[in-house]
Amino acid sequence: MSSEPLEIYLDDQDIAESLRRDVRVGLSAGAKWLPPKWFYDARGSELFDEITRLPEYYPTRAERAVLAQHAAEIAEVTGAKTLIELGSGSSEKTRLLLDAFTRRGGLGTFVPLDVSVSALRGSTETLAADYPGLRVRGIVGDFTRDLHRLPAGGRRLVIFLGGTIGNLLPAERAEFLTRMRAALEVGDWFLVGTDLVKDPSVIVPAYDDAAGVTAEFNRNVLRVLNRELGADFEPDAFAHVALWDPQREWIEMRLRAERPMRVRVLDLEVGFAAGEELRTEVSAKFRPEGIAAELAVAGLPAERFWTDPAGLFGVTLARAD
Ligand code: AVJ
Repeated sequence: MSSEPLEIYLDDQDIAESLRRDVRVGLSAGAKWLPPKWFYDARGSELFDEITRLPEYYPTRAERAVLAQHAAEIAEVTGAKTLIELGSGSSEKTRLLLDAFTRRGGLGTFVPLDVSVSALRGSTETLAADYPGLRVRGIVGDFTRDLHRLPAGGRRLVIFLGGTIGNLLPAERAEFLTRMRAALEVGDWFLVGTDLVKDPSVIVPAYDDAAGVTAEFNRNVLRVLNRELGADFEPDAFAHVALWDPQREWIEMRLRAERPMRVRVLDLEVGFAAGEELRTEVSAKFRPEGIAAELAVAGLPAERFWTDPAGLFGVTLARAD
């Protein structure tokens, strides 16, 4: 079956407006920050794909191992008719689930949701071609905002892979899970991938690889601001920093100004002192009991929890109650 036209709940104007708002808020704050979603233009998405193949970046391989091991069980336990993927990107790991559902039968519709039209165009076309009989309905939307737009009815399984939930701060995460639950009916399923707390000597190199791909990915957000907002950042004058916060158990990526700078962006003139850092991403790591507790509070109690053999990455299957 061919894929259907994309349903667009987020147009270029919404995106431009939210970029301007984020930049205004984040760059005029005392401690400067930008949300990580602005990494992912075409170049940023390519760099991220490259990251997932780096020897140091274990999350993608570890999550793939979990899905490969448990896809049949996930298909069996959930018996889903509709599979919805939040932040789907290329949907590469999702094929493990689609294959399992194809073997089991009963899955009628796949709904990838992503902010990136270009990522969705590519993935919906190839998936529709590779899974004949599957209805593929791509939704252009923001998973922090558009959950109420998810198709209703049938027995649904929503998947949120890659550890992307770790990009949300704790309060945002609680709000996201509550909204997720509100978008589901009793008996629907939620599958979430989370990177796990482990020795920082394993985590830090995953965010500071020897080849410098993550550094380029990090600086790419400045290129996005230059192009989209006519800003005049000099990306190469910023150093990539990946810092483990042992209290909060998260990685922070930052960009450190190597010398004093003044940058023009929108109607702002943003001053950076030498050594001043701009936070570009939080990537939280989880403990199994913590994930279970957060899901339960939101009305999504965990029914299964799996890790890869090395215990690096966790995948939780929760059911709306
Ligand atoms: C896509 C958010 C899961 O946090 O590991 C990779 C993004 N940042 N390297 C992560 C990322 C730096 C990634 N997520």
